[in-house]
Amino acid sequence: MSRTEVAAPWSSPSAGAAGILESMTFPDAFASSRMVFERLRPGHAAEIHRMHRDAEQMALLGGVRTLEQTTAYMERNLAHWDEFGYGIWLLRDITTNEAIGRTLLRHLDIDGVDEVETGYGFFPAYWGRGLATEATLTCLDYGWRLLNLQSIVAITLPINARSRRVMEKTGMTYEREIVREGATHVLYRAVR
Ligand SMILES: CC(C)(COP(=O)(O)OP(=O)(O)OC[C@H]1O[C@@H](n2cnc3c(N)ncnc32)[C@H](O)[C@@H]1OP(=O)(O)O)[C@@H](O)C(=O)NCCC(=O)NCCS
Repeated sequence: MSRTEVAAPWSSPSAGAAGILESMTFPDAFASSRMVFERLRPGHAAEIHRMHRDAEQMALLGGVRTLEQTTAYMERNLAHWDEFGYGIWLLRDITTNEAIGRTLLRHLDIDGVDEVETGYGFFPAYWGRGLATEATLTCLDYGWRLLNLQSIVAITLPINARSRRVMEKTGMTYEREIVREGATHVLYRAVR
C-alpha cells in the first residue's frame, strides 16, 4: 500500500477521543494501532465476497451472499463513498496485511429519519481480541472530528450478544427496538 502522510488534526499523539489514531493517509487509508482502514474500492470485491461467503461471520447478518448480491453491495457502497466521502473501510491486520474484516460509517434511514450508523464484521479467527471495539472507537472518532456528526447509531439483532457488547464498550447507549426487513433489531446511539 502506498501511503502519503499528511498533516491532519488527528495525527498528533494526543489526538483522538480514543487516542488510537496513530497515522493516516487522507482520504484513502489510515491506521489504528492494530489495523489499516482502506476506503472501499472496486479492487476489494474478492475480499468482501470472501467475507460474505463465511457462514459464521454472516450468521447474524442475513446469511451468506451470492456473487450477485456482493456485486450489488459493492455498487451501493462505492456510490455511498462517492456521494458522501465516507462509507465502508476494508480492515487489514497492520502486521500481516491480511484482510480481516470491515467497518463503516454509513447513512441509514430509521423510521424516516436520516441517521449515520457504524458497524463491523470480522472473520471468526479474529474475534475476541478487541478489534471490533478498536474499529468502532476509530469510526466514532472519525465521525465526531472529521465529519462533525452529532450522533451515530448502531443496530443489531437482539441475540447478537457480541455486537451488543461492542456497542456498550464503546459508550453507545441502548435506545429502543426497531423493525428492519421484517426483523426486530436493537438500536444503540452514541452522541458527541
Ligand atoms: C460482533 C463482532 C464484530 C465482535 O468482534 P470482536 O472483535 O470479537 O469484538 P471485541 O473483541 O471488541 O468485543 C467482543 C465482546 O463481546 C464479548 N463476548 C464474546 N462472546 C460473547 C457472548 N457469547 N455473549 C456475550 N458477550 C460475548 C467479549 O468478551 C467482548 O467483551 P469484553 O471485552 O467485555 O470481554 C464479531 O463477533 C463478528 O464479526 N461477528 C459477525 C458479524 C456481526 O455479527 N457483526 C455485527 C453486525 S451488527
